[in-house]
Amino acid sequence: RRPKVLVTQALLPDSEKLLENAEEVEVEIWKDGLIPREELLKKVKGVDGILCTLSNKIDKELLDATGPQIKVVSTVSVGYDHVDVKELRKRNIPLGYTPGVLTDATADLTVILVLGAARRIREGILSVLNGTWGIWTPTYMIGSQLSNKTVGIVGLGRIGKATAIRLKPFIGANGKIIYSGNSDKPYAGEIGATKVDFDTLLRESDVICVTCALTSQTKEMFDYDAFKKMKKSVVFVNSARGGLVKQDDLVRALSESLLGSVGLDVTTPEPLDPQDPLLKYDNVFVLPHIGSATYETRTLMGNIAVENLLAGVRGKPLPHAAQL
Ligand code: GLV
Ligand code: GLV
Repeated sequence: RRPKVLVTQALLPDSEKLLENAEEVEVEIWKDGLIPREELLKKVKGVDGILCTLSNKIDKELLDATGPQIKVVSTVSVGYDHVDVKELRKRNIPLGYTPGVLTDATADLTVILVLGAARRIREGILSVLNGTWGIWTPTYMIGSQLSNKTVGIVGLGRIGKATAIRLKPFIGANGKIIYSGNSDKPYAGEIGATKVDFDTLLRESDVICVTCALTSQTKEMFDYDAFKKMKKSVVFVNSARGGLVKQDDLVRALSESLLGSVGLDVTTPEPLDPQDPLLKYDNVFVLPHIGSATYETRTLMGNIAVENLLAGVRGKPLPHAAQL
C-alpha cells in the first residue's frame, strides 16, 4: 500500500512540487481555503501523515479519527499551540515544525508593529484615504520616538533576539534592552540584553515586544494587572500568539487610557471581527497574522514541512522535530 498524506491547505508551488515528486506517496491537498472540521475528520481517516497549519486543531478527536497507522504530523509554522503534544507523545507520533526560516521575516514585521504603533501609522493611512488629512502643524499626528528608550522583549528566543538586534540602532547607544523569560539566554550579552523579572520588564519598558511561545504557563500572561504596571506611554506589541493576551483586559486597559499604543499581528479570534471593540481605538494597529508572510520564507516553511512529512511517513527522523 502506498502511504497516504493529507495537506490541509495549498502550499507555494515549489513545496507542492517537492511533495508530488515523492512518487511512492499518495497526496491529497485541500485547496479550498480552510477545511471544515467535519471534512477534516473524514479526510484524515487512514492517512499516514498530515501536513497542517495553525488553523487546524490537532487533538485527540482528530488523531482518533485518523487511525493507528498515522506516523507523523507536520505543521507549517514555528508555533504549535494548535497541536495537543501530550496526545502525540502518548502515541509516539513525531511533530515536525519550521523553526529558523521565519525568524527574519517575523522580526521585520515586529519592527513594523513597533514603529507603526509608535508613529500612528494606522491613523495616518486612514486620514489620507478618508480625506481627514489635516494641514501640517507642529502638533499634528505626533507620536513617540525610539531614541534612548528601553525595549523589553518577552521571550528572547530566535525571533526575540532578531527583533532586539533590529531595534538596537533605533534606540541608539543610550537605549536599553531588557528581557524576561523562563531561561537565561547565553547570547543575551552579545546583543546587550539584560535579564529582568517580568514585573520589572512591565514597569521599565517603553516598548514591549511579545515574542514567546503560547503554552499553559504563558497563556493570558498579559492581563489587566500586567497592563496596569506598564508605563502609560508604552508601545505594546504582540507578534507571537493572541492567546498570550487576555483580550478583554486589553480593551479595558485601552478604555482607561493605560497604554500609549498597541501593535498586534495576532488576536483572539483570527480573523478578528471588524466590529470588535479592540478596533475602535485609534492607537491600536492590527495586522492579519502576516509575520512570516514573505515569498522566500513561506517557500522555505513549506519545503521544511514537506521534508518533515516525508521523513515521518518513511519512518526516518524528522529534519525539524518539535521537542514533545
Ligand atoms: C506563525 O504564527 C507560526 O507559528 O509560524
Ligand atoms: C521562535 O522561533 C523563537 O524561538 O522565537
